[in-house]
Amino acid sequence: MSIVTELEKEFEKAPIFRAILDSLPEMIFIFDNKGRLTKVNAKVQIFLKQNKEIIFSDESGKEVECKLDVEIEDDNPLIRDCFIRNIVKEVRQTKKAIYNRQGYLNIFLTNKTKKIKILLNALPFRFENSDYVIVTIRDVQNIKKYEEQHIKDMHKFSVIGESVSTIVHDLKNPLTGLAGYLELLKMTDSKEKKELFYEKMEQGIDRLKTMLQDILNIAAGINDMILDKTYINVKELFLDVINLLNIEHLVKLKIDENIYVYGDRDKLHNVFWNILKNAEEALPHGEGEIKVEVIEYDKTLKIIISDTGKGIPEEIKDELFTLGATFGKSKGTGFGLASVKKIIDAHNGRIRFESLTNKGTTFYIRLPK
Ligand SMILES: Nc1ncnc2c1ncn2[C@@H]1O[C@H](COP(=O)(O)OP(=O)(O)O)[C@@H](O)[C@H]1O
Ligand SMILES: [Mg+2]
Repeated sequence: MSIVTELEKEFEKAPIFRAILDSLPEMIFIFDNKGRLTKVNAKVQIFLKQNKEIIFSDESGKEVECKLDVEIEDDNPLIRDCFIRNIVKEVRQTKKAIYNRQGYLNIFLTNKTKKIKILLNALPFRFENSDYVIVTIRDVQNIKKYEEQHIKDMHKFSVIGESVSTIVHDLKNPLTGLAGYLELLKMTDSKEKKELFYEKMEQGIDRLKTMLQDILNIAAGINDMILDKTYINVKELFLDVINLLNIEHLVKLKIDENIYVYGDRDKLHNVFWNILKNAEEALPHGEGEIKVEVIEYDKTLKIIISDTGKGIPEEIKDELFTLGATFGKSKGTGFGLASVKKIIDAHNGRIRFESLTNKGTTFYIRLPK
């Protein structure tokens, strides 16, 4: 690539051209009027640092044979294959651009070849009485991944936006209810009626607690996880959570009094609140039970939470821990387990589950002590 062309001189005069070329995410090759490779951009150079040569193949994935009459004067070692050479020749002959030609870029790894899908554009252009061909190559595989991620992120944000506005809107209902029953309480002397109003008010407060927890979950899903760690007594933590949840089913706790975990109390509270709340919601009225067992090892704790409920629906098993995965609940947000996973990850722990339809669900959590 030592051939100094008019074009190369131009690049030296105006470094802006070089800067623009180097800033592009595509691989760019410029060929001169003899079909010689005269310039590549930074993207190509970066690729060449990791791979000795650049070999493309056509749409079918096969390496392309050079057409016999390709007249290329230099035998550039960088581009060994004929996929590009044939294309350059085609453009030079027809003076027409080629857009979106499919092919593959081959990357040689120690024991296999990886093929990356590419799209190629080739454009003829004239400069100072010479003809050039500029070839740009896009790695569509990565673009696709990027676009898919972008769509997922946008989806995530719209789910969050919608849920927050629904929750905030719905906060009014239990609040109005509470205010109403308070007024009624003031006006009645009947013991029975008072009991009924107390119960209704308790239900309203429970609903508010759940809604606030939903908002906490959303915050956990969006924010970076910064942990405020202390030594936490695990049994006390579970008793707190169960107390807050008003569980109507039997909860069997098998936790030694003196097991501690070093973690963020509020966040772990959030974790067990979500799992136990889901377990409670999965049980039919007045039937079934929930079990919590904590086993202590040298450096870790294993926490097993199981219920005898309806089981996790097949429809969401694969994406259970992703934001917005909810199924079969009128007020579900799908933020609970997403937030659980994020918190467990932040504690360098692990979480998995087993679930059988109408038999029950078990969550297994590992946490470093
Ligand atoms: N213990 C369980 N038993 C049955 N289904 C469960 C259990 N835990 C979670 N699920 C299912 O997983 C879904 C996601 O749970 P979660 O992330 O807490 O969101 P939400 O409870 O708001 O729907 C629930 O909608 C439910 O269908
Ligand atoms: Mg939930």
